[in-house]
Amino acid sequence: MVSQNYICRISESSLMPFLDLGKQPLGNGFVVESDFTHEYFYSMMVGFSPESKMVQLLNQPNPELMFHSEYAFYSSTSVTMAQHFSDFFSSVMNSPYLSKDDPFVIELGCNDGIMLKHFAKRGIKHLGIEPSINVAKVANENGVNTISEFFSSKLAGDILTNFGKADVFLAANVMCHIPHIKDVALAVSSILKKTGVLIFEDPYLGDVIEKTSYDQIYDEHVFLFSAHSVKYLFNLYGMDLIDVQWQKTHGGSMRYTISHSGEYPISDNVINLLEKEKKIGLDKSGTFDSFRVNVERSKFELTNLLKKLKSEGKRICGYGATSKSTTILNYCGIGKETIDYICDITPIKQGKFSPGMHIPILPHKTFIENPPDYALLFAWNHAEEIMAKEKNFTDSGGKWIVHVPEVKIL
Ligand code: SAH
Ligand code: TMP
Repeated sequence: MVSQNYICRISESSLMPFLDLGKQPLGNGFVVESDFTHEYFYSMMVGFSPESKMVQLLNQPNPELMFHSEYAFYSSTSVTMAQHFSDFFSSVMNSPYLSKDDPFVIELGCNDGIMLKHFAKRGIKHLGIEPSINVAKVANENGVNTISEFFSSKLAGDILTNFGKADVFLAANVMCHIPHIKDVALAVSSILKKTGVLIFEDPYLGDVIEKTSYDQIYDEHVFLFSAHSVKYLFNLYGMDLIDVQWQKTHGGSMRYTISHSGEYPISDNVINLLEKEKKIGLDKSGTFDSFRVNVERSKFELTNLLKKLKSEGKRICGYGATSKSTTILNYCGIGKETIDYICDITPIKQGKFSPGMHIPILPHKTFIENPPDYALLFAWNHAEEIMAKEKNFTDSGGKWIVHVPEVKIL
């Protein structure tokens, strides 16, 4: 690992680099053949701050390279996630945080409107902030009032002037994307009513460590949060972490509730999670050295298994062209000599090639019409939904390969 001195984005103290996943392209940067010669790559390394306890990328591509008018991730492709966000909506509606009188809800990174559409349908004053123009357009078409901009304290000032303060500020799988998160924390503190809350969820560091799900590390995920790091960050802006709730989405996520300090009691969930994190060592650098060893082992086992299957003449495809798969394929050096194609239901990905390794992305019907012997489940976080859908493949002898929490054939 390079000996350059990297600085924590939160505490501005030294970072301890612990993992180098090599040259990586954009996680959602699906390419056409004419892009092959000038594809964007960067060095993907991860560090831990002993001060803020924040795990973070050492370098991140510019947000404009990742979030634009052809953003490839549409939230509503998963039925399970649609249900999850409907439940999330209900939990906000049943919470004590929405004022009776003309409540106002903001969502950062609302994508195609998967959650905010429920508020919109009930006539609740809301605003989505979504810089990727193509998905923001779908949100607007779904009746969700959405502006297409990157969130910042400057934008928060404009929102304050035009809409007033918010009761609830929501964010799912987006806070961990934002390198200028301190500005976001400042902005949130200025835009929330005195009794208002920020409720956000992201893939949880504890699950990533426990399951060796290192594919949660990719360009968009500049941070991997824990209760320790989230508490540290928001304490800087006079806010408290008042509740946490584990979620099974994305292979294990944490929902954090934050308020202005002293407005609400701090729940036992927070105290217990902080204790648990200490026990499993999320506050100590040695934990991340062990994680690196597990990542290297996972790579060894996956590449060996695939080599063995190919030597037996088996046909293998990938299932789900996830941004997570970009990390796996490029770090493990797995290309089209091993994987014939990756099937995915997202139209914008189909007919393109996987970032970096250039495996063709084909529609789901290819999987039905031309099934492989083995399907490597890149969308392992949607396993339940996919297994139910692909019962025919499994019943007719098709095999699944997973790499989380360990490399195995199901
Ligand atoms: N909330 C959705 C989408 C997650 S993907 C879900 O959980 O499924 C992350 C989304 O955040 C993308 O749609 C991306 O365009 C958006 N995003 C990225 N940076 C942002 C920023 N600085 N401000 C607001 N949204 C952002
Ligand atoms: P995610 O893991 O980031 O949510 O991405 C899931 C990807 O998998 C997305 O490109 C859609 C794709 N997918 C399928 O192709 N079929 C499915 O049944 C599901 C649930 C997802």
